[in-house]
Amino acid sequence: YTHDAAPTRRPFSRVMPEDINFFSQHLPGRTVTDPDVLESCNVDWLKSTKGSSVVLLRPKTTEEVSQILRYCNEKNLAVCPQGGNTGLVGGSVPVFDEIILSTALMNRVLAFDSISGIVTCQAGCVLESLSQYVEQHDFVMPLDLGAKGSCHIGGNVSTNAGGLRLLRYGSLRGTVLGLEVVLADGRVLDCLAKLRKDNTGYDVKQLFIGSEGTLGVITALSILCPRKPKSVNVAFLGCSSFQKLLETFQISRGMLGEILSAFEFLDASCMSLVEKHLGLVNPIAESPFYIVIETAGSNEAHDEEKLHNFLEKVMASSLVQDGTVATEEVKIKALWSIRERITEALRHDGYTYKYDISLPLEKIYDLVTDMRAHLGSQAKNVVGYGHVGDGNLHLNVTSPAGDAALLAAIEPYVYEWTRKWQGSISAEHGLGLKKRNYIYYSKSQEAVRLMADFKTMLDPKGILNPYKTLPDNIR
Ligand code: FAD
Ligand code: MLT
Ligand code: ZN
Repeated sequence: YTHDAAPTRRPFSRVMPEDINFFSQHLPGRTVTDPDVLESCNVDWLKSTKGSSVVLLRPKTTEEVSQILRYCNEKNLAVCPQGGNTGLVGGSVPVFDEIILSTALMNRVLAFDSISGIVTCQAGCVLESLSQYVEQHDFVMPLDLGAKGSCHIGGNVSTNAGGLRLLRYGSLRGTVLGLEVVLADGRVLDCLAKLRKDNTGYDVKQLFIGSEGTLGVITALSILCPRKPKSVNVAFLGCSSFQKLLETFQISRGMLGEILSAFEFLDASCMSLVEKHLGLVNPIAESPFYIVIETAGSNEAHDEEKLHNFLEKVMASSLVQDGTVATEEVKIKALWSIRERITEALRHDGYTYKYDISLPLEKIYDLVTDMRAHLGSQAKNVVGYGHVGDGNLHLNVTSPAGDAALLAAIEPYVYEWTRKWQGSISAEHGLGLKKRNYIYYSKSQEAVRLMADFKTMLDPKGILNPYKTLPDNIR
């Protein structure tokens, strides 16, 4: 295995004044070279990866994206597609001087079918705005994540983002019905179907879902939205052990059935961090583990009865030691923010090493306990939270500053651990720059080879998001 190393710049052309002229002619006022604006687009959300791009392009249409890529491909100029820049693996910012192609101005809803609930929109729609749009029509987006106020739906699809509702509505691989993609040479691939069923050969769009901008630029998409639930309840519960938390999960699936829309967890260390850095208040008695359960259904009385019976059962059997339930929107939001804002609290705590692992459910928290013992006082905090319902653990380690010795103690240890239990080293955030060389811990040589073949076929010059996703030993 090749371990994390800074890549070397590949022999792409450098951006010249004539290139800026070309872009300025085609995107007047939207070819940005202002160093202050570039500063923020060159740095990722975690402030851990920084590029040195000299130009940011803000197209509004698919045709403009096509012109840009056709030109860049001919001139051998590398391009980094960027949505809301909330990615957590260093994939959304340039590594060197790649041109930043932002979807920020591609934010139009193109169509909405109020019978099927299919929304068709440009890639740069901010997830929260899109949610508000479909809610006016009595639908909801099938995904929700803490970054909703900034992330773009195109970025979500490019990372195949999971989020807080995957347990209920499934992955974007199922809910995205169509994509429009501009390929590296400027060709526009129209797979913008709005059909639930389409078995006409290979499902080409799947290749672009989760490909992190390495195979094409997603310019538009259609996505299937569920109906807005009439009743939503959130329960915030405390558990004395992870084993009890898992038993509570098992019972919730049986007793809440089709109305269960989220089952998330955080440990006591996460709670301390959101209290300390964000001033949030723990609504229940202190516990080693906390659960956020959401139900979403169509019949208030029926849903409340189910939730009540479930809570009675888990409290009576001492699986849950304390809890609170919210039915009004304000309180629901407050409870959710304890879980959603952990990422933000961690950033305040220091430099954050983030791991996003799929594991068999019974092993999920052992990794946190083991890592705590393994790192001892080397780490400031070692915390665990995540999507229990999806078998996805977020293991995070903080440190006052970037620390090479700490990193060497975490990696590849964490990846060896994950491989031992046949887990995935990236459950939802992708590989980006940071994890590209660890791909073999979760994928076979043959599968990675095939990924490289796809890359060569679709982007023979390798101009799209170089140094990301694919390991360095493969070009
Ligand atoms: P960016 O960060 O801009 O880009 C991400 C990747 O996609 C990059 O490789 C970029 O090159 C590529 N890309 C972006 N747009 C396009 C496009 N149109 N065409 C081709 N490639 C493109 N992730 C989860 O999965 N689940 C979560 O619950 C979750 N919660 C988060 C909470 C917070 C507070 C934060 C900061 C992040 C969270 N994330 C989560 C990670 C991140 O938000 C998601 O990965 C999100 O989907 C990225 O969207 P974006 O628009 O910000 O994309
Ligand atoms: C989450 O589930 O909160 C996100 O994936 C972000 C993170 O892992 O910090
Ligand atoms: Zn997550």
